[in-house]
Amino acid sequence: MDRMINWISDRFAHRPWWMNFLMVFCAFMAFIYMPWDFLVKPAAVDEEVWFGLLLRGGWAKATEPLHWAIYAAGAYGFWNMRSWMWPWAALYAAQVAFGMLIWPMFHFGGFGGFTLGLVSFVPFAAVAWALWKADAVFQSPRPGMRERYGDWALITGASAGIGAEFARVLAREGVNCVLSARRKDRLEELASELEDSYGGETRVVEADLASPGGADALARAVEDIEVSILINNAGAGYAGRFEKQDLERLAEMVQLNCTAPLVLTGRMLPSMISRHCGAVIIVGSVAGRQPLPFHAAYAATKSFDLLLGEALWAELRDQGVDVLVLQPGPVATEFEAVAGEARPDPSADQAVGPVVESALDALGRQPSVASSWMNWARANVNRLLPRSLLVFVTGELMEKQTPEEMR
Ligand SMILES: NC(=O)c1ccc[n+]([C@@H]2O[C@H](COP(=O)([O-])OP(=O)(O)OC[C@H]3O[C@@H](n4cnc5c(N)ncnc54)[C@H](OP(=O)(O)O)[C@@H]3O)[C@@H](O)[C@H]2O)c1
Repeated sequence: MDRMINWISDRFAHRPWWMNFLMVFCAFMAFIYMPWDFLVKPAAVDEEVWFGLLLRGGWAKATEPLHWAIYAAGAYGFWNMRSWMWPWAALYAAQVAFGMLIWPMFHFGGFGGFTLGLVSFVPFAAVAWALWKADAVFQSPRPGMRERYGDWALITGASAGIGAEFARVLAREGVNCVLSARRKDRLEELASELEDSYGGETRVVEADLASPGGADALARAVEDIEVSILINNAGAGYAGRFEKQDLERLAEMVQLNCTAPLVLTGRMLPSMISRHCGAVIIVGSVAGRQPLPFHAAYAATKSFDLLLGEALWAELRDQGVDVLVLQPGPVATEFEAVAGEARPDPSADQAVGPVVESALDALGRQPSVASSWMNWARANVNRLLPRSLLVFVTGELMEKQTPEEMR
């Protein structure tokens, strides 16, 4: 209970009281009032005011989803103090103030209408003005990763894709990087690139995390370093019908995707906790948000990563350690080739840059993040379907991405 109260009070401590009030108001509108207004209230008595124009009946109903979306965006934007809130929140409040000024003038007319308009205008105009002046609150940048957590990061799966991008971004922020994977030549190439470009220190550790002692050996290889940022990124998929898959390869995948992050996190945590400072990112996947026939074991491993990381987020936040599960959707890396997938249109895959950016932005703010709006929708829309139906829908989709001989 204390942990939850600490978290809630932390979330409210980051903005002025009047902005907290606006956030709660937006949340009330998004979760309670607008759903009732749109779904329950009869169209015959519906009224909406936009820019001082009163819409009634069907026209009012038709514009309610937009109002709903605006309040939902407001609640989300205040909660996460998104930089795009400025100037949009101020402009929206100004639009409401303008509407409040002129609507009573036309509706009631005369001196009474004018006075009512003026009285309603003042508080909304004050809110618009306060939001306009609050640009610095929305724009204030967070300190870099090195200042927030410390000098060294350990990145697994740094020889390609998302892991290599994590290494580049962290090195650019002045963090020294331990780069680990099996392909040593690639790691050495990346290490030279980082040292030449950003001047920090690097260390290369060759490790096979799919082998039983792999994670422990890697942890021993960095014992002399204070690792304050752990990126559990190494992972692989394996596409195919379960009975056609090689059991040994499946077991190695579980070792790589589940046991390795578990062991490495366990090994790195004590020193992070003793310094009351550290960050752990586990790279999960939107695949872990639902059962996936033809990728059954992979989805299960990523579900393990999600539940492990989110629970650790709650356990560790009072001990100064931020935990985040990053959930990408399809990303343009070597993953598809390694997994033996045959996706019909890989050209739509997300680039590694925004994937890593979304993780570093969300770290310390929330337990998990989907790497784009599309992935967030992918990960959440499935909650609306019954499990039995969901598993057939995902099965249909995954079968198309599986080579003929593995279906
Ligand atoms: N790309 C996607 O569409 C996608 C979507 C959702 C989630 N993810 C997740 O993102 C993470 C990174 O994948 P990616 O897309 O960057 O794929 P990638 O380009 O194939 O990179 C995978 C990395 O993991 C390393 N790795 C694989 N097997 C290993 C082993 N046995 N021991 C140590 N390292 C190993 C690879 O290095 P070596 O081969 O040199 O060992 C490589 O550096 C994975 O956890 C994956 O599940 C990817």
